[in-house]
Amino acid sequence: MGESLVESSSPIQRRGIVLAGGSGTRLYPVTRAVSKQLMPVYDKPMVYYPISVLMLANIRTILLISTPADLPVFQRLLKDGSQFGIQISYALQPEPRGLAEAYLIGAEFLRGFPSCLILGDNLFYGHNLTSILYQASLRKRGATIFAYRVANPSAYGVVELGPDGKALSLEEKPSKPRSPYAIPGIYFCDERAPAFASRLRPSTRGELEITDLLRFYLEEGSLHVELLGRGTAWMDTGTPDALHEASSFVRAIEHRQGLKVACLEEIAYAKGWIDEEILERQALLYGNSSYGAYLRFLLHSEAGQNSWE
Ligand code: G1P
Repeated sequence: MGESLVESSSPIQRRGIVLAGGSGTRLYPVTRAVSKQLMPVYDKPMVYYPISVLMLANIRTILLISTPADLPVFQRLLKDGSQFGIQISYALQPEPRGLAEAYLIGAEFLRGFPSCLILGDNLFYGHNLTSILYQASLRKRGATIFAYRVANPSAYGVVELGPDGKALSLEEKPSKPRSPYAIPGIYFCDERAPAFASRLRPSTRGELEITDLLRFYLEEGSLHVELLGRGTAWMDTGTPDALHEASSFVRAIEHRQGLKVACLEEIAYAKGWIDEEILERQALLYGNSSYGAYLRFLLHSEAGQNSWE
């Protein structure tokens, strides 16, 4: 609570990967022509939310991976990231061959750096999120994943936890889940993730599974699992209902507080990564939209600058 955003940057330079591929078939026809991760979640494109999470974890060097059709659109939207005080580069995933492929595509980008991979359609919001992410980003060896209780674990990667909170098993979309804990789409891995990914073979559904990659860490005893409690919202946006619910959630919070969720310029400004001039330029760029008005409000007030959680 009352946590300051202006904190020293992480001693480890961790790099971020946003995976925004896939064909979003569960949202057809909405996603026939436009990437799912560009769909609005209330007042901003979906991909803003995972980028905001990386920024809150103090990650400023980011690779965005998407399909050949969609990548140019992401580039048009996000450019080189300097307007958000970050560096964004881009890479293609020609076919949806699984989440773990992100480490192969990003091997050159990671070049020995530890990473945080986040899925372009996962939304996180909640109490203490900044410090939870920050703690995970500080861990040098092994991998950190999260466990989140859901009503329908079969739809996700599932982690079974022992009495000491340590992971016992990992399964991808099990028909008979051994626990109610889904693994959200955010993974902190040390620099060995690309090497582990290169040893993977496609699963029966033809994909390089993230759960198989995490199993390397589990087997050597270096997989850390942090419970995301009830005070945290983890939402997925894969169906029309889920997308609508995520939008309603963001709208309700924003209306109540008068503050925006996942406003990238706000995070960058509060962290001292962009100055007033850039914020003002962005405000002008967004014209008379509510987002533009919010940036103007930030320029003229203290709101949102000092306390975050
Ligand atoms: C993927 C992962 C799964 C994870 C989920 C989170 O599933 O394979 O382990 O729990 O993301 O959103 P997919 O969205 O590809 O079905």
